[in-house]
Amino acid sequence: MWAQRAGVLGWLLLLQVVPRAHLPVPAGARPCSPKYFGRDSMVCVCNATYCDTLDPVVLPAPGTYVKYESSKAGKRLERSEGSFQRSLRAPGTYLVLTVDTTQRYQKVKGFGGSVTDSAAINILSLPEKAQDHLLHSYFSEEGLEYNLVRIPMASCDFSLHAYTYDDVPYDYELTHFSLQDEDTKLKIPILHRALAMAKRRLSLYASPWTSPAWMKTSESFIGKGTLKGQAGDKYHKTWANYFVRFLDEYAKHNLTFWAVTAENEPSAGLINNYPFQCLGFTAEQQRDFIARDLGPALANSSHRDVQLIILDDNRLHLPHWAKVVLEDEQAARYVHGIGIHWYLDFIGPIQDTVVPTHELFPDYFILATEACIGAHFWERDVILGCWERGNQYSHSILTNLNHFVAGWTDWNLALDLEGGPNWVKNYVDSPVIVDSSEGIFYKQPMFYHMGHFSKFIPEGSQRVGLVASKESKKTDLEYSAFVRPDGAVVVVVLNR
Ligand SMILES: *[C@@H]1O[C@H](CO)[C@@H](O)[C@H](O)[C@H]1NC(C)=O
Ligand SMILES: *[C@@H]1O[C@H](CO)[C@@H](O)[C@H](O)[C@H]1NC(C)=O
Ligand SMILES: *[C@@H]1O[C@H](CO)[C@@H](O)[C@H](O)[C@H]1NC(C)=O
Repeated sequence: MWAQRAGVLGWLLLLQVVPRAHLPVPAGARPCSPKYFGRDSMVCVCNATYCDTLDPVVLPAPGTYVKYESSKAGKRLERSEGSFQRSLRAPGTYLVLTVDTTQRYQKVKGFGGSVTDSAAINILSLPEKAQDHLLHSYFSEEGLEYNLVRIPMASCDFSLHAYTYDDVPYDYELTHFSLQDEDTKLKIPILHRALAMAKRRLSLYASPWTSPAWMKTSESFIGKGTLKGQAGDKYHKTWANYFVRFLDEYAKHNLTFWAVTAENEPSAGLINNYPFQCLGFTAEQQRDFIARDLGPALANSSHRDVQLIILDDNRLHLPHWAKVVLEDEQAARYVHGIGIHWYLDFIGPIQDTVVPTHELFPDYFILATEACIGAHFWERDVILGCWERGNQYSHSILTNLNHFVAGWTDWNLALDLEGGPNWVKNYVDSPVIVDSSEGIFYKQPMFYHMGHFSKFIPEGSQRVGLVASKESKKTDLEYSAFVRPDGAVVVVVLNR
């Protein structure tokens, strides 16, 4: 019956090539300009004069659907149209997926990536017209329409050096707090351009890696170290005020934030010899810092509507971390959501981490706040055209969406051919790889996998039931379905 309703938008990710007549490219959309790095390893090349684009999504007429398909064999969000048939059980039908809009799950916050110093350096290393193509590819209606942007507060490993906004020792009044060239010349101009070209409302959120060294037990940006003293003291008050000052300074550039995370990977700063910027918090320390310092500081500022996200670290800390923070009434009243990273997913199954957290605290959203491939020692940094890495993105996104997670944020929007720059050589892969010597950039399979979600599932969509026919219970397909705010239904299917 769902086939006869208006506004069904569906698309498939398929590995098989199904021979069929080539449909005309809709007005405006420009196809991928392919470049191969070995068989099946294809990227789409963009330069100052050419870049592949998509058309704005137009809802199909009642009884029909639009399908967008990407494949290892070379399709990249290829659009086609079709009509639903009345009899879904044609002889030989292997699998029927039935949308059940009476089953309602989480609301979607969105999808996006991160404007690190390195991402900004790479984007701005291109000729200006190519920069525009890159930003349009991510943010405009002719691209993936990202609506989430994560921004490091000061430096992280994807910076050229370590710094904070107030490296003048013992400046408890933050008199010397100031944004750096990385903000005013790199990140902020890019955010302005993204905002100007986006049709959707962008939600910016910020995360700090390290506090100024003088606030830390280690007296260093790196290595094992926490804030000196304890919650409620001048170190913790100053660090909370630093968040407010950051939001103040960005507001002077007309940039307002949807959220902040309390700390990027707070467990990193509890590890001996941790190699780059970090600031350690146990769950108890984060609870007390939020209850006594950060929560009140935000609430007593002009940024009281900025949401606060806890954890922002690997999901294996769940549900413990959420229980410690959210079972404390004083801390919980300031918190809105829980951020998770994917790097240790293989030792923290989602059923044991995210699911019990959602069951205990259904009023708090869970958001994937960072992910990239190439961070593990056994992974190569950049692999051009690697379809499998796109599959890894889609598999993670679908698994998360099917277990109450509200959205998924990629790491660096763009990196160079090496997977940097990164001041500690922690090189990784990115959906967009820039070759500044040629004035070009490559859109990797990961880019298009992101698009299968970001472009079609806008903020405010709600996951609904998608039930496989009984005889197909053994299917290896992965899938999820959503109802959008405009009433259209979106189905994403992954065939790895
Ligand atoms: C830019 O890319 C297009 C399409 O691949 C190509 O035809 C054109 O020659 C390129 N321009 C330059 C300056 O390389
Ligand atoms: C911020 O917006 C105001 C009003 O639109 C404008 O006058 C001002 O120039 C903007 N400031 C910056 C730094 O963009
Ligand atoms: C709230 O902020 C004002 C100034 O902005 C300050 O004087 C006051 O002490 C703050 N109150 C708390 C509870 O932090």
